[in-house]
Amino acid sequence: MTGSQPEIETLRLVLRRPRLRDAPRIAALLNDYEVTKNLARVPYPYTMQMAFDWLIRQKREWSPESITFAICEKEAGLIGFCGTHREGRLPEIGYWLGRAYWGKGYMTEATRAVIDWYFSHSTGDTLVSGVFHFNTASLRIQDKLGFVRTRIGKRICLAQKAEIDHIETELTRDAFYKALETL
Ligand SMILES: CC(C)(COP(=O)(O)OP(=O)(O)OC[C@H]1O[C@@H](n2cnc3c(N)ncnc32)[C@H](O)[C@@H]1OP(=O)(O)O)[C@@H](O)C(=O)NCCC(=O)NCCS
Repeated sequence: MTGSQPEIETLRLVLRRPRLRDAPRIAALLNDYEVTKNLARVPYPYTMQMAFDWLIRQKREWSPESITFAICEKEAGLIGFCGTHREGRLPEIGYWLGRAYWGKGYMTEATRAVIDWYFSHSTGDTLVSGVFHFNTASLRIQDKLGFVRTRIGKRICLAQKAEIDHIETELTRDAFYKALETL
């Protein structure tokens, strides 16, 4: 789809499509090993040029299975990203937040909204995700939202330049809406 660009509003956040002028802010937030060591495909150090190149690849066309949202706190502005992409059989959701914004419930709020948006716009009934084995905060978010662990695989982490144990997870539409009842 290309027409109107989706935007999601929550209590504290606005999730909107990325813009080229987000590059300096993305570079400032992502050039942090404590963030990138948790992500598979983000190198460290992370430069402004990398942010520009990534933004240029984020086309205006989107589908529920392939979309990125800039997570904007209503006062602080852009604080992170959440999106879906398709590599394997099922669409995958990924996310990150700048370190200054951790521990305030922002990613639970953002992922909950994006997943609700996903299931409202897609006929698909399953999303996959996963975390490197040490990422207890991210696993906790996924547990709260109804993801279940499916297997332990291996993934290359560009920032750590290593192949690391990766806990793979899966979320069904039914499990998500059931989890929301108790969240
Ligand atoms: C992981 C990340 C997204 C968490 O975002 P956040 O906004 O701080 O997360 P929230 O506050 O919404 O929720 C975190 C949950 O984990 C819990 N938590 C945090 N650190 C924890 C730890 N070390 N052990 C166990 N639980 C932990 C929190 O208490 C909270 O659970 P609660 O709501 O039951 O109290 C953020 O730290 C981040 O972007 N990290 C770097 C990139 C990354 O890891 N991306 C995900 C890759 S899979």
